[in-house]
Amino acid sequence: MNDHILAQAVALAGTSCYVFDIDVLKKRVAFLRAHLPKSILLCYAVKANPFLAAEIAPLTDRLEICSPGELDICCRLGCDPDRYVISGVYKAPDVIKGRFLRGGSETYTVESLSQYSLLKELALTAQKPMRLLLRLTSGNQFGLSKPDLEAVLTDALAQPLLDVCGLQFYSGTQKTSAKRLAKELAELDAYLNELKDRYAYEAEELEYGPGLPASYFQGDCFDEEAHLLALSQALDAMRFSGKIILELGRGVAADCGWYLTRVVDDKTIDGQRFAITDGGVHQLTYYGQIMAMKHPYVRLLTPHPGAKEEEWTVFGSLCTVNDILVKRIPLAGLAIGDVLVFERAGAYCVTEGMSLFLSRDLPAVVLHSKGMLRLARKNTPTDGLNTPVCAPFSVDQE
Ligand SMILES: Cc1ncc(COP(=O)(O)O)c(C=O)c1O
Repeated sequence: MNDHILAQAVALAGTSCYVFDIDVLKKRVAFLRAHLPKSILLCYAVKANPFLAAEIAPLTDRLEICSPGELDICCRLGCDPDRYVISGVYKAPDVIKGRFLRGGSETYTVESLSQYSLLKELALTAQKPMRLLLRLTSGNQFGLSKPDLEAVLTDALAQPLLDVCGLQFYSGTQKTSAKRLAKELAELDAYLNELKDRYAYEAEELEYGPGLPASYFQGDCFDEEAHLLALSQALDAMRFSGKIILELGRGVAADCGWYLTRVVDDKTIDGQRFAITDGGVHQLTYYGQIMAMKHPYVRLLTPHPGAKEEEWTVFGSLCTVNDILVKRIPLAGLAIGDVLVFERAGAYCVTEGMSLFLSRDLPAVVLHSKGMLRLARKNTPTDGLNTPVCAPFSVDQE
């Protein structure tokens, strides 16, 4: 991606906007595959960036889908349902029923005893086979405790229509310690072995979320190749001989996105230079960024060569003192009308902001590949969503 293309994306979509580069995404997936053991499969967590789902589906082996909205997006985009892993702490019964009756080749995670009852009943009522992954908790609200997992396993093994493919385990996000991942993988390996001994159950697969980190901020130092090597060694050291699928979000998508926002005003207060942009924190969220304490990679789309560098604090357009995109960043010759480019904004940034606050527009989204731009979403008003549309219902007041 070069700035000439970013400038054309701005001309096409206006500001603020996101640009996602599919060529960068493809290279990233190839890089990860080259640095992981050959047998490892990849699953893309759609939550990281649904705008990439159609492009990444053929590059990876699975799509992890965590909400009815994500399911609709993937279906609308024509992604192959055989690759869906339908996950999530709340599986809306109607949505799951509709999907299963229409499809059936997707895989469902089991995250609680009641989810298991729901899924089992669906399979038995429809007399259709169903693929299940039992999610083991990593100590939070997601997944099953070991006793519950084993209760589900015991019951499911007696149901010919239920195919318990294996376990799912999500370690967490931004996990920089390969040592901890290795310890966790060794424990999972031992547990899979224990299930073999105690239940004569041999899992076919382990779907594991290693929380591969993204370096968002200037000064972050993280040796990714060393991390991937250590992770690969830990995976190779496992006795488990089934398939291992790594669930990845930010580690795949972060690098392929840029957020562009225009400076619409400037002022000097007590000697400090402030720039106001047409974007803001409702549109751009970096993991670990609190009150702009860190410096993301940000620059001017069109530099001003020879201009004096000054320290700028960049705000968005929300009516809150918290709407700071970056604090005290050196920029040369910044002026109203300039476009700021925020890098590494490919994962989560586009969807994690509080986008309805102040009823401002959602930013446009542009996809780039091989010199072609596609407008994936226009700058979209949100005021309609914040306007009451009233239908009166009288209530019994007694
Ligand atoms: C179950 C599951 N898998 C994978 C991911 C992706 O995580 P990351 O973006 O840290 O790779 C998440 C993120 O929340 C998740 O909940």
